Amino acid sequence: MPAIVLIGAQWGDEGKGKATDLLGDRVDYVVKFNGGNNAGHTVVIGDKKYALHLLPSGILSPGVTPVIANGVVVDIEVLFQELDALIARGVDVSRLKVSANAHVITHYHRTVDKVTERFLGKRQIGTTGRGIGPAYADKINRVGIRIQDIFDEGILRQKVEGALDQKNHLLVKIYNRRAILVDEIVDELLSYADRLRPMVADTSLVLNQALDAGDTVLFEGGQATMLDIDHGTYPFVTSSNATSGGASTGSGVAPNRIDRVIAVVKAYTTRVGAGPFPTELNDASGEWLRARGFEFGTTTGRPRRTGWYDAPIARYTARINGVTDFVLTKLDVLTGLETIPVCVAYDVDGERVDEVPVSQSDFHHATPIYEELPGWDEDITGARTFDDLPKAAQDYVLAIEKMSGARISVIGVGPGRDEVVVRHSLTD
Ligand code: GDP
Ligand code: IMO
Ligand code: MG
Repeated sequence: MPAIVLIGAQWGDEGKGKATDLLGDRVDYVVKFNGGNNAGHTVVIGDKKYALHLLPSGILSPGVTPVIANGVVVDIEVLFQELDALIARGVDVSRLKVSANAHVITHYHRTVDKVTERFLGKRQIGTTGRGIGPAYADKINRVGIRIQDIFDEGILRQKVEGALDQKNHLLVKIYNRRAILVDEIVDELLSYADRLRPMVADTSLVLNQALDAGDTVLFEGGQATMLDIDHGTYPFVTSSNATSGGASTGSGVAPNRIDRVIAVVKAYTTRVGAGPFPTELNDASGEWLRARGFEFGTTTGRPRRTGWYDAPIARYTARINGVTDFVLTKLDVLTGLETIPVCVAYDVDGERVDEVPVSQSDFHHATPIYEELPGWDEDITGARTFDDLPKAAQDYVLAIEKMSGARISVIGVGPGRDEVVVRHSLTD
């Protein structure tokens, strides 16, 4: 099973980091293909906890080659900080490869991200403030800086001048901020060149050659389907393609080389930032889920919005991504509920709608239609086979599997590396 894509099924933080780590010793390459340091993956290994933002989670597995591919936006200062933090904890990061075509996030992207949000006022997206949107905007506007530009001072200066020319007008005249100097940016980027040089590669070539040689490559999506720039709840989305198609364009590995698509889905739903969320709970149950699931952002520490499982979203994800397997996470968090509501369809203006509505306004005011499933009281964190789970937990899994459009192959019963129930192997 050489090329596997792993993506988020909902609005992020489903446990993709842990799922990647789980596959770690069976894969040779882990590739980040979209987003940047807006991602936040928590991986728990024994009594050690790692929080990763820009680096793919596969960096924690000895023997794995981590790759930051062309679809990523790279804040180089953050990259070095994250590498240094891992080196200090004894992790070998020497194999990391960074695409020469990946775009760079600099000071002005972070500034523009923050001021734009402030000016949006009530309509703000609730971005992570890491400069993600402005860096992708520059890429699409063809005024972006790429990793390879850092190794050609003349070109770099020209490009930074071009990018700042527009931005400084905006910052000074509209946002009332100080102008950013070309030298400031050029000098900073040049200062990264020596350390960066050995990591830079034609990552598309590296990955295709790896696949030719029979190696296993895992593409790890940041963010999630409902945050995808094309398929998510636009404009309350991130600025990249977080869906499985993004793995191809974001890495230079063709779609017909991809064998398997794994979607990580939480046994309930969370969202950070603004935008529609039909099953959101603004009551004691929502508070209970937040506390029990420890739903606070890894990147910004913001409390996550919480709600019940939404089956139409899972079906949507299955369809958009071509999901072959679901990894269902955090089933243990639901322990102790008498009954568990699951959204099976929506009520939109008095009509039953079975799929995610095409109109964003309809989705905004869709009310969930719930089915109540029986809960369980037994501690399930020690379960390692499906049969170890109490009958009601098994039935919950089977019921949502039937509604969600693909099989549930792995079930998370705790944050730890081995706290999983494997029903079907993800690599055979
Ligand atoms: P990601 O962004 O998709 O990688 O997810 P995050 O790391 O932001 O959030 C998922 C959180 O859930 C992390 O703190 C994980 O340690 C934790 N987690 C993952 N799987 C499970 C599980 O099955 N049970 C519990 N209780 N926690 C889990
Ligand atoms: P992982 O990979 C959850 C959300 C932000 C905001 C919107 C746009 O950990 O699942 P951005 O800074 O990307 O322009 O913000 O997207 N967002 C995430 N929410 N998990 C993430 O990543 C996210 N990355 C971005 O909260 O609503
Ligand atoms: Mg996260």
